[in-house]
Amino acid sequence: MVELRLPENSRIKKGKEFKLQKKSSLKKVFSIYRYNPDTESNPTIDTYELDIKNCGPMVLDALIKIKNEIDPTLTFRRSCREGVCGSCSMNIDGTNTLACTKYINDIEGKVKIYPLPHLPVIKDLVPDLSHVYKQYSSIEPWLKKEKNKGEKREQLQTPEERKKLDGLYECIMCFCCSTSCPSYWWNGDKYLGPAILLQAWRWIADSRDDATNERLNSLEDSFKLYRCHTIMNCTKTCPKGLNPAKAISNIKQKILAKR
Ligand code: SF4
Ligand code: SF4
Ligand code: FES
Repeated sequence: MVELRLPENSRIKKGKEFKLQKKSSLKKVFSIYRYNPDTESNPTIDTYELDIKNCGPMVLDALIKIKNEIDPTLTFRRSCREGVCGSCSMNIDGTNTLACTKYINDIEGKVKIYPLPHLPVIKDLVPDLSHVYKQYSSIEPWLKKEKNKGEKREQLQTPEERKKLDGLYECIMCFCCSTSCPSYWWNGDKYLGPAILLQAWRWIADSRDDATNERLNSLEDSFKLYRCHTIMNCTKTCPKGLNPAKAISNIKQKILAKR
């Protein structure tokens, strides 16, 4: 018989509760996934009550308040706090998004916060991104020049050529898309996933790059590229409003055209 439950030591248990000391008409409860690799304990869901009158408007503000004032052991990544560094990506209210651009008031009831799904967890809300970064380096994300190699001047583009990078250069590598993609959940060891494929397309689409064929040849692989089944979760969840599914389809079309 197939075992569909998580192994005993991975099952999430009820954790600690941190109650508000004073009554408040603006009480909000945050249920947060906790995992500490230094103990033998199972992951838990800890709950924290906050008076959001005294808190900034974003989920990241609440996490910082909890860490500063209630529980300094809570661990999460953040840096820019304005949606440009990609560090604070996590699963909030059932959707992968950025904690710094998600309004607390947009969430009804309890605010449930988990790490990005289907990645190993280092601690609490911090996933291990080693594998995705290895995949990123595999697409050689830099400009490759053959023509006029060694020329010491700017590589020019026309405004039209530059426009082709719109919707691509804005990607902040938050991996909300890849970790929402069912194909990436099951085949993430070999499938590159939407974030990395959008980045791959960003270099293929760049008029200054001379390695288009080499890049396409390396992507023409039943696992690296063709595990995308156009389910579109990636595009729905991207907090920057980008369209990785379209980038993937552009790569497929370019490969077809070259055959
Ligand atoms: S469109 Fe492709 S990459 Fe995006 S979620 Fe679906 S399968 Fe994954
Ligand atoms: S495409 Fe969007 S969701 Fe995916 S990594 Fe880039 S910014 Fe994040
Ligand atoms: S803290 Fe930089 S994107 Fe959220």
